[in-house]
Amino acid sequence: MVPPYYDNLAEWTNFVPESEIRRLLLTQVKYYFGGGKPGSLPIETFKKIMYQLADELDEDGINILNYGPTSGISSLKKVLFDRMKRVDGINIPNGLDDILISTGSQQMLYGLLDILLRPHDIVIMARPSYLGFVVPVTKLGGDVLTVPSDMDGLIPEHVESAVTLSEKKFNRTPKAIYVVPDSDNPKGTTLPEKRRKQLYEIAVQHEILLIEDAAYREIQFSKIPPPIKQYDKENEWVAYLRTSSKEAAVLRLGYSVLPPQMMDPMIKDKGYLDLCTPTLNQKILEIYYSRFIDEVLGYNLKVYEERCDIMRKVIDEYFPTNGMRTNPTGGFFFWYQMKSEAFDSAKFMEEVAIPNDVLYVPGQAFYPIKGYSVSSDGSKMQGNRIKTNGMRLSFSFTTPDIITEGMERLGKLLQKTV
Ligand SMILES: Cc1ncc(COP(=O)(O)O)c(C=O)c1O
Repeated sequence: MVPPYYDNLAEWTNFVPESEIRRLLLTQVKYYFGGGKPGSLPIETFKKIMYQLADELDEDGINILNYGPTSGISSLKKVLFDRMKRVDGINIPNGLDDILISTGSQQMLYGLLDILLRPHDIVIMARPSYLGFVVPVTKLGGDVLTVPSDMDGLIPEHVESAVTLSEKKFNRTPKAIYVVPDSDNPKGTTLPEKRRKQLYEIAVQHEILLIEDAAYREIQFSKIPPPIKQYDKENEWVAYLRTSSKEAAVLRLGYSVLPPQMMDPMIKDKGYLDLCTPTLNQKILEIYYSRFIDEVLGYNLKVYEERCDIMRKVIDEYFPTNGMRTNPTGGFFFWYQMKSEAFDSAKFMEEVAIPNDVLYVPGQAFYPIKGYSVSSDGSKMQGNRIKTNGMRLSFSFTTPDIITEGMERLGKLLQKTV
């Protein structure tokens, strides 16, 4: 017998799809270009950290294995505070009170939307955008408004049009603008300095929160412009989100600098979500960030850059030349788009790529399930626009020989369709 509550679950369970990436993680293939998993993990370093921590457990195990403050332990916050000031050059006016430790940056993205959104509040983002942010907007009752992006990422002029169109059509100013400025997920694009400044100015002028998701800030093969947060000297308009997942290990720990007005409601929300981020993980990362990160990044960046270069070379040699690829200078992803708009990369993957042992993430996963879009010329607002001809190709997890073989195989399969 089916229990009655089963047919009567919360409404969102009916329209929010399972995360495509979680679903694809379960598919076993030889040539895996799917999820954004780190493929170079500092195992020896973490063994050293564990030994050090074993000694600390002798002295302070009662706290390290216990619940901690909801906003995070201050010794970790202090290390991150120093690093963000020194490396990112950002101003954190209220010191540790402006920093929040979360259980992954995913929790912060979700939590920010949870405290911001009232029904049909508008959130502006690029098309395509990180699906872990896109879907929760709809789940939490907001409306996604996408704007076109190009080879440099989000286009500020279109963001400006989105604000104007939203005010005209819905009589409301959008609540937030979301951007991944450094080696974006899914396209791998990096926002030029001028656009960063323009976005910040739009946020200030229209009094909108800018959510700067800097997940790939440290995974850079050459120098990139400073974070948008650098402009926000008084910590008023930019929520700056970082994660240890790509730059350390997947210990489910994110860290953010939030405007003070956001901090109390966010801690309240987190208190109900998880009470606190595991103290043990915070202690592990405190040691990592204070002693090991530079050495580990020095090695990891070489690994990722080599993989990125190989993927670029194989795409250029074997993929249809009339398609378009982005040119990442960091992060984990390429984006490749077939010329024909009729190409369906999800269908191709199920019917052709997976049977040939190749996996990527079809581009449609990074578009909202519903919402609005600003037209390509920025002039009008339309219904939700989904393009099916793109694919996200991750180079982070797979070794150079597998990238070479698998991408050549995928390129040849794509060639047969044109
Ligand atoms: C752009 C972006 N933001 C946030 C996240 C979530 O990261 P985590 O929850 O592991 O910190 C990811 C993960 O892939 C990402 O690519």
